[in-house]
Amino acid sequence: MKLKERVFSGMQPTGSLHLGNYLGAMVQWIEMQKTHECIYCVVDLHAITVWQDPTELRHAIRQVTAAYIASGLDPKKSILFNQSQVAAHAELAWIFNCVARLGWLNRMTQFKEKAGKDREAASVGLYAYPNLMAADILAYRATHVPVGEDQKQHLELARDIAQKFNNDFRESIEAKGYADGLFFPQPEPVITGPATRVMSLRDGTKKMSKSDPSEQSRIALTDDAEAIANKVKRAKTDPDALPSEVKGLAGRPEAENLLGIYAAVTGRTLEAVVAEVGGQQFSAFKKLLSDALVARIVPIGDEIRRLMGDAAEIDRVLADGASRARAIANPIMDEVRDIVGFIRS
Ligand code: TYM
Repeated sequence: MKLKERVFSGMQPTGSLHLGNYLGAMVQWIEMQKTHECIYCVVDLHAITVWQDPTELRHAIRQVTAAYIASGLDPKKSILFNQSQVAAHAELAWIFNCVARLGWLNRMTQFKEKAGKDREAASVGLYAYPNLMAADILAYRATHVPVGEDQKQHLELARDIAQKFNNDFRESIEAKGYADGLFFPQPEPVITGPATRVMSLRDGTKKMSKSDPSEQSRIALTDDAEAIANKVKRAKTDPDALPSEVKGLAGRPEAENLLGIYAAVTGRTLEAVVAEVGGQQFSAFKKLLSDALVARIVPIGDEIRRLMGDAAEIDRVLADGASRARAIANPIMDEVRDIVGFIRS
C-alpha cells in the first residue's frame, strides 16, 4: 500500500514566536501548504513539560494560532489546531513510552540542555517529550515534517519508534493487511527553510530561542519597527568590515548570522548578499538589515494584533481544526488499538 504524503509540524505556545521559528520552519510550512495536505499544531501538551501559568498559556495558544494565520497559513486549506483537543496525541504517546527505550531518550541533547544541572528536578514529561513528538506525527501517519535544524535528533527518534513499533507488532500489522509490516511510515525531516538555524543576536554561537532570558537576543514576530531597529543596532558584531566572499565568514559567527538573516528575509542567497554588502562596515549594513526585517515582520505583527482582537474567532478556528484532525487520527488509533491487542467496543 502506498502511503499518502501528509505533512505534520508544530510549535510550542511558550511566549511569542520569533524570527528563528519563522525562517526555520514557518516559511517552509507556508510553501508546503501549496502542494500537500498539511496539519499544523500548537503543541500545548509539549509546553507544559515546563511550568506554564494557565492564564498565560491560554493567551499563548491563541497568539501562536494568530501568528500562524498572520504569517500566511490558511485555516481553510491546512488543519490548524491545539494538541490537547485531540486525545490521540496523549494516547499514542503512552504507547510509544512503552516502545521507546530509556537508552534512546538518554541521548537526547535537548533534554540535557533544558534540564540543566538539576536533572532530578526536571519533569518526567520533559524527559518523555520526544515520544509525544513522535506520537504527534504518527497519529496522522504523516510522512513529511518541516522543522528547523534543532529538531533533527527528535525526528530521528520518531523514525526509530516507527520502525520498532512496526517490527514489534509485525504479525498483528500484517494480519490487518499491511504488506511488510509497514503500518507507520518513516517520517522524513524537511529542513529546507530559508535559514534553518538562526542564531542569537547577542551571541552568534547560540541558537535564537524563546527561553533565552534576554529579549535582545531575538526578534519576536510581534516586535514593532522601533524594537526591531534597536535590537539590530545592539546586535553583537566583530570589529572588521564585512567580507566580500562567503568564505571570509569562517570564524565570524555574528557576521555569518546577520548576513544569513538578511539573505533569508530578502529571499536571496548568501552569495548574492555578500556580493551586495561586502566591504561595508556593520553600521551601514545594520540599517539595510533592519529595514528589510521591518518590511517583512511588522505587517505580520500588525495582523497578529488584529486577529487577537477576536479571541472567539481564533477559538473557532482551533475547534474546527481539532475536529478535522480527529477525523484523521481516530481511525488510525482504532487500528493501533487492534494492533497492540486492546479490546474496543
Ligand atoms: P519549537 O516550538 O521550539 O520551534 C518551532 C519550530 O521552529 C524551529 N526553530 C528554529 N529554526 C531555526 N532557527 C532557530 N533559532 C529556531 N528555533 C526554533 C524549530 O526547529 C521548530 O521547527 N518539539 C518542537 C515542536 C513539536 C513538533 C512536533 C515539531 C512538537 N511536536 C511534531 C514537528 C513535529 C519544538 O519544540 O519546536
